[in-house]
Amino acid sequence: MKTFYITTPIYYANGSPHLGHFLTTSAADALARYYRQELGEENVFFTTGLDEHGTNVEQSAKKEGYSNIQEYVDRRFNEWKKMFDVSQISYDYFVRTTNPKHKDFVKKFISTLVDNGDVYKAKYKGKYCNGCEKFLTKSDLDERGLCPLHRPDQVVEVEEENYFFKLSKYAPKVAELLQKNSLRILPDNKKKEILSRINQGVEDISISRPKEKISWGIEFPNDSNQVIYVWVEALLNYLSSLHINKKEIFWEGQTTHLLGKDISWFHNVIWPSLLLSAKKPLFKESFVHSFLKVAGQKMSKSLGNVITPQDLISRYGLDGARFLILSSLPYKNDSDVTMDYFDKKYSAVLSNGLGNLISRITKLCENTSKEYYLSLGGSLKTQEQLKSKIKDLIKDYKLNEITLLLEEQINFLDKEIQTVKPWENLEESQEFLQGVLLHILFLLHTFNFILPQTSKKVFAHFNFTREQDKKSKIKHLTGLFPRLS
Ligand code: MSP
Repeated sequence: MKTFYITTPIYYANGSPHLGHFLTTSAADALARYYRQELGEENVFFTTGLDEHGTNVEQSAKKEGYSNIQEYVDRRFNEWKKMFDVSQISYDYFVRTTNPKHKDFVKKFISTLVDNGDVYKAKYKGKYCNGCEKFLTKSDLDERGLCPLHRPDQVVEVEEENYFFKLSKYAPKVAELLQKNSLRILPDNKKKEILSRINQGVEDISISRPKEKISWGIEFPNDSNQVIYVWVEALLNYLSSLHINKKEIFWEGQTTHLLGKDISWFHNVIWPSLLLSAKKPLFKESFVHSFLKVAGQKMSKSLGNVITPQDLISRYGLDGARFLILSSLPYKNDSDVTMDYFDKKYSAVLSNGLGNLISRITKLCENTSKEYYLSLGGSLKTQEQLKSKIKDLIKDYKLNEITLLLEEQINFLDKEIQTVKPWENLEESQEFLQGVLLHILFLLHTFNFILPQTSKKVFAHFNFTREQDKKSKIKHLTGLFPRLS
């Protein structure tokens, strides 16, 4: 792999950042940081951002008294971006779909689909969920005939003339590519779900909406009465971002979309079909995570069980929040979290674990008043083994298992210290302390993509740069992961 392009979904501008967004964005951030270390900064491109058009956004702006919707999304953009910047998300480009360059790109792309004979006009009659921004098919509805994700008043009956895209023409090809793994969906259960849904039959989809119903969108090429369906132009952000930044070359390398299971059909069937129709190469992989639940229930304001990213960051710090959310990554199935679970995990692994380990060892080193060798050397065999395990887990996006590897390493060092008891004969223990110190430096370097702040703080404390080995006296370092009050 030479280059790595990673994306998060673009989030609806009218929403507020919740734990699901924080999960996907932190996972993408960790992967981008990992590959920057592996491939070099310039060979990684990481995008995240906002989906600024559609009914949802238009309605929210009106509700908040904005007659100028652009002003509303500008405000929301500032809020979201601030939140991402405060969280030190290392994105290379923050997407906005109201960017004129994105709009131009989308219009050209849609014109290509029209030119290639894959678009026709027809009547759509059925349900539309404003919450999902989606035309609901039978399989989207629950037993009561309602959208399982949104309030009944969010679902409207529509009968309208739209432009349709020939999804049915491309879906079999997508299935074939998935079967051959030329297009990879991970984990395997998410791939199976897509294949079985394609097998049940695929209908063409509407890709526009009448302007009289929704005006907040990109006008359809050569038809001022229609706007492009928000989902279609949102998917196109993955290409327009590269175009805007003159980074098209990244589309030829490794391309990975991260997303949640509710939007898998859009990404894994509609998006590749649009690309096939436009005769563009497909992305390489998508990683589809499941949902985070709180104590077995969906997070919702009415249940009062919502945990926000801010709750995590203010209680556990940036690295703490990152580590905890990644350790709970719902890999194949939904995973359950509670503040109590986060508290216990934080205390065990970070506060009593890593933070305490670093504090103890630096205190002991300080007490010997000797000089210690600082480098990223140490036992090469252990290093190679750990690095290759991480590499394999990264390939499958198993970030949750990577956090377990770090846990194991911390436990291992703790046990060693407990067995050797260096404090009983401090002067004779220098070699042992030296070994533990090097192991800690190696761990912080290796897991830098998950704990970037901690790694930076420790290296700064030792005044140590990764490139340069040195000998130095060690000063006590405390307060890395403070105890919870
Ligand atoms: N705007 C679309 C995406 C367009 S991408 C071309 C959208 N936006 S969203 O604001 O609703 O964000 C959705 C993301 O949050 C999805 O990846 C979704 O799966 C994720 N999550 C929403 N609730 C979630 C959980 N409870 N747990 C984990 N992720 C969840 O959809």
